[in-house]
Amino acid sequence: MTDVVRPAPGLRAYVDGATAVLAEAGVASPRHDALALAAYALGLPRVELVLPPPLPDGFAAELAGLVERRRAREPLQHILGSTVFRYVTLRVEPGVFVPRPETETVAQLAIDEAAALAARGARPLVVDLCTGTGAIAVAVDTEVPASRVVAVDLSDAAVGLARANAGAVGTADLRVEQGDVRDPALLAELDGTVDVLVSNPPYIPPDAVPLDPEVRDHDPDLALYGGGADGLDVPRAVIVAAARLLTDGGLLVMEHAEVQGEAARAAAAATGAFTDVRTLPDLTGRERTLVARRVARPPVGDSPA
Ligand SMILES: C[S@@+](CC[C@H](N)C(=O)[O-])C[C@H]1O[C@@H](n2cnc3c(N)ncnc32)[C@H](O)[C@@H]1O
Repeated sequence: MTDVVRPAPGLRAYVDGATAVLAEAGVASPRHDALALAAYALGLPRVELVLPPPLPDGFAAELAGLVERRRAREPLQHILGSTVFRYVTLRVEPGVFVPRPETETVAQLAIDEAAALAARGARPLVVDLCTGTGAIAVAVDTEVPASRVVAVDLSDAAVGLARANAGAVGTADLRVEQGDVRDPALLAELDGTVDVLVSNPPYIPPDAVPLDPEVRDHDPDLALYGGGADGLDVPRAVIVAAARLLTDGGLLVMEHAEVQGEAARAAAAATGAFTDVRTLPDLTGRERTLVARRVARPPVGDSPA
């Protein structure tokens, strides 16, 4: 019998195998994740299968370990330690909410408003409540360099990570504070001066436990569940804080669940502080964002009728 020398499997074969394993495990984007894990194992930002790079010793074992973690539904972003949000790469860690692509459109609304103010020569003050990794805050800070951004979160882990992300990719005008949006004195020194208040708060009701293991088992409860029977306790606190912090004419932008548009608009209307209260769709047409403008306060000295 003659020995047949077979070539070692190439990158494509490894990626095909990893894709099959991840698909079998119910991962939503198995090919994408297999490619990302292969690139990570090679220390590259991404891989091309047409002209694949040479595979170093130990690659197969390294990739197998990564695929096994993903097969167990550990979030891809936790394995890679990073995610891309708009134009920046953010550090991501277990214990802090992983920024989602749909929040990029929420950030866009805040960026558009801040950019319009900056174009008129202002240095817009933007507050991002419930900042998590600092995703929205960093996006506004980097895309509207004239802005001054203050980011707030209750969680120690989130504040630490947002500060790390701000230090790595943000400007000196980005400040990260620890605080609770339910605190009526939160950022009191900024009362009535904020041009844009943007937030992606926790908003899931207690009985709507997410099905995806990546979310249910890995995003912190503090980041998911908004409190109260409808999940809107923290979002309502964001709206109340916005009524206090925003300057006359300032803009509130807040993400919520698809079914919460009406309740979010009602909460904004109930403060009596907003006009032009609307719900905007995300890129897939789902109603996901509350937008409202702060009405002008009566001149000092005027007493209510
Ligand atoms: C859904 S995550 C969003 C994080 C980030 N804005 C994003 O879009 O990636 C909600 C965040 O709100 C924070 N949070 C929850 N309750 C809070 C509160 N009462 N005050 C301030 N932050 C809070 C959580 O720690 C978490 O980081």
